[in-house]
Amino acid sequence: MTKLISAVFLLVSFILPITPQAEEQRLPVSLQPEQHEWVLEYMRSMLETVADIQGDLAAAQPGQAALRAQQINQFVTDTKPRGIGRSFPPAFRAMSAQMNSYWATLATPAGDSRVIMENTRALLNTCNACHRTFYLNAPVSGSAQ
Ligand code: HEC
Repeated sequence: MTKLISAVFLLVSFILPITPQAEEQRLPVSLQPEQHEWVLEYMRSMLETVADIQGDLAAAQPGQAALRAQQINQFVTDTKPRGIGRSFPPAFRAMSAQMNSYWATLATPAGDSRVIMENTRALLNTCNACHRTFYLNAPVSGSAQ
């Protein structure tokens, strides 16, 4: 049944005239190709980390969560392109800082699944708030792009 509904929906969406895309309300962030790539890699790694943390909690291994948060923080320390902060608009930096405070909290061993869940939820709220506020422009200038 669900498959049928999806098939009908897919068909209808091909047949119906395409509705105009909602106008972009978010603010653009323009980065150089290397910075752009790094931001997206960081984003993907953060999402994977959150998924892993949820897996740890489901497996009753809350101790793992802090290690994972420490790893993502270490990834930033090791790979962040120099001076990238200056390319971010101030509000983007501020949201980023807010998110980092939750990563720092998660990186401190808590042991209590409930506390970790609450912090993860608060962390995800910062992800969502930024995604609703900013988008990345196509990378500017630089190499063969
Ligand atoms: C300070 C702003 C900001 C914060 C905080 C933030 N993101 Fe993002 N993220 C972005 C922007 C901008 C994009 C590009 C989206 C676009 O252009 O539409 C993005 C894209 C992504 C993508 C897509 C990556 C790809 O390969 O295209 C993922 C996944 C993602 N973010 C996960 C997260 C997660 C998980 C968090 C929180 C733990 C988070 N982000 C926090 C700004 C942010």
